[in-house]
Amino acid sequence: MKTPIRVAVTGAAGQIGYSLLFRIASGAVFGPEQPVILHLIEIEPALPALNGVVMELQDCAFPLLKGIVPTADLNEGFKGVNWAFLVGSVPRKAGMERKDLLSINGKIFIGQGKAIAANAAPDIRVLVVGNPCNTNCLIAMNNAKSIPADRWFAMTMLDQNRAVTQLALKAGVDTTDVSGLAIWGNHSSTMYPDYFNAKIGGKPVPEVIKHELWFKETFIPTVQQRGAAIIKARGLSSAASAANAAIETVRNLVNPTPAGHVFSVAVCSDGSYGIEKGLIFSYPIVSDGKSWKIVQGLPLGDFSKEKIAATEKELKEEKALVAELLG
Ligand code: NAD
Ligand code: LMR
Repeated sequence: MKTPIRVAVTGAAGQIGYSLLFRIASGAVFGPEQPVILHLIEIEPALPALNGVVMELQDCAFPLLKGIVPTADLNEGFKGVNWAFLVGSVPRKAGMERKDLLSINGKIFIGQGKAIAANAAPDIRVLVVGNPCNTNCLIAMNNAKSIPADRWFAMTMLDQNRAVTQLALKAGVDTTDVSGLAIWGNHSSTMYPDYFNAKIGGKPVPEVIKHELWFKETFIPTVQQRGAAIIKARGLSSAASAANAAIETVRNLVNPTPAGHVFSVAVCSDGSYGIEKGLIFSYPIVSDGKSWKIVQGLPLGDFSKEKIAATEKELKEEKALVAELLG
């Protein structure tokens, strides 16, 4: 048996936490050979509910679960942690944009960034899920400058999965026939699902779905507004699909990407494709299981460039709004 890794999840008593924790403990993220110790971080008033989640985790008798650390103390919560899922934050309600949460949620990520820098293991990697996740990640990263920028991620895998399914449904194929679909930019209503560089059954998507207007009038808005549509239908934001996407994001990062595939995750921009350096921007990414890189040299037409510029502009505006939180 390998040495257990320590995995922190903030907001562990919340909706996403309830779907996420049991799958991490079962081996769905780090594999069937990798034991884990779960650090479950909550705010003080949620500790009684968290205690119920701890009891349920115990009642699963997961062979890979070697310990549980439930806490409201950030130093204890991030002590020795190898991976952190930053989920804890307030979800939006119907009628709000995710960036409307910045004034409520942004400051959470100052203390968490600092506590991660002060306590986590030297190989710490962090996935931010709490919204608005790109800019919350920017805040945490800038308050933890001792941690290299390539360890910080914000989640756009849910948007990729949504886009893949919409393409598969339209083309009447299985989701596994769709490859190369990546989300660019912000996890917001400006995100850009780049269908031009995606393939269905190995052929460029526009050669299989020959309805130019469908992409612009239905596909892109459906993907951009899917979170809002779920809030309208459920009265609550997506949770099981979000937890699933968080699991897939980390699995994609810790395993080699199969040939011909890419995955979406927002990373600290190095200026690739002319995007402002330092923004947390979603790109097509590949991993060798240890390190990741942005896929270079993809052709982008005028339409794609315009969409990518719009989502970059929004991220610059969000960055300006939180300037005083960036340390
Ligand atoms: P929820 O309200 O069910 O749970 C959030 C939990 O976070 C609560 O238990 C709360 O007590 C806890 N919390 C609040 N502040 C905290 C803090 N400072 N430290 C630790 N815990 C704290 O919400 P949810 O449905 O689980 O969603 C969580 C977040 O994830 C929301 O911001 C939501 O918008 C976001 N989200 C992101 C994506 C994405 O694709 N990036 C998808 C779905 C949801
Ligand atoms: C989603 O995409 O489902 C989440 O970001 C929740 C939301 O506010 O839309």
